[in-house]
Amino acid sequence: TWTTGNVIEEQVAAIRAQVGDKRAICGLSGGVDSAVAAALVQKAIGDQLTCVYVDHGLMRKDETEQVEKDFVAATGARLVVVDAEKRFLDALAGVSDPETKRKIIGREFIRVFEQAQLEILQEEGPEVAFLVQGTLYPDIVESGGGTGTANIKSHHNVGGLPDDIEFELVEPLRQLFKDEVRMVGQELGLPEEIVQRQPFPGPGLGIRIVGEVTKERLDLLREADAIAREELTKAGLDREIWQCPVVLLADVRSVGVQGDGRTYGHPIVLRPVSSEDAMTADWSRLPYEVLAKISTRITNEVADVNRVVLDVTSKPPGTIEWE
Ligand code: XMP
Repeated sequence: TWTTGNVIEEQVAAIRAQVGDKRAICGLSGGVDSAVAAALVQKAIGDQLTCVYVDHGLMRKDETEQVEKDFVAATGARLVVVDAEKRFLDALAGVSDPETKRKIIGREFIRVFEQAQLEILQEEGPEVAFLVQGTLYPDIVESGGGTGTANIKSHHNVGGLPDDIEFELVEPLRQLFKDEVRMVGQELGLPEEIVQRQPFPGPGLGIRIVGEVTKERLDLLREADAIAREELTKAGLDREIWQCPVVLLADVRSVGVQGDGRTYGHPIVLRPVSSEDAMTADWSRLPYEVLAKISTRITNEVADVNRVVLDVTSKPPGTIEWE
């Protein structure tokens, strides 16, 4: 019979058999899949696992802390955090085009992660032979199956390593669906905020700012997003909505009035959607009182925002994210 306890026991045995006394690396994204995969591997091989978290500065409020503190506290995992905020912001400076932003973020992410891998290899030697990935059953079905290996190429400025390092993949979630992954995560004692996290794009808030991404704008969006999330949670709507992107229209300004003064601020867009698989989505009919509360709080508490608008477009024709 299928129980989370059986799955954990089985996977722990399988991971031990696969990795033996070698070492493994796991990249954490803040999402549920990589966190549960890492927690399983940690349970199986303990300190033979090193987790790497690239802080690109594009996460929502408190998410980096959830990985740095709560994930580590729950699992005891060894974690290397790479603070790459400046690097990402520098690379994104002056860029407004969505696809260009996505490419830059993806490229920088791979570079930073590979650099971290190389440093771990240099410190720990060639026993690092495994890369943990949170691949789920639906991912495998979609891509046609097969286990893989991952190549990273060493950079020219890092000496003493072979040109091409090949990692064998460890994929302990290969047989699981998302809801099962959440159950396993819960059983492993991971924090609720990680286990129940709604989908969040890899490029983070970088693609939720329409216009150039700057530190100031990210901070502003983080505040607005935190308010929306807090109120949705308070209203008990987390399970009902698939996700609710909060978007800053940084290139748009509109006139408002606050106190006795005219303002000329930015709009924030709320994009709550319901969906089964993100391929199609409908806009969520949120209760007016909840929308009113979010709107009042955001315009009162977030400087430079004087308008909150609701996206009432389904997918198609709109995508869930704005970029
Ligand atoms: P769209 O905007 O295409 O989004 O309707 C569909 C789902 O995918 C998420 N999304 C991403 N997830 N990396 C990710 O891991 C990405 O680059 C990315 N872009 C969009 C989005 O949040 C939604 O759940």
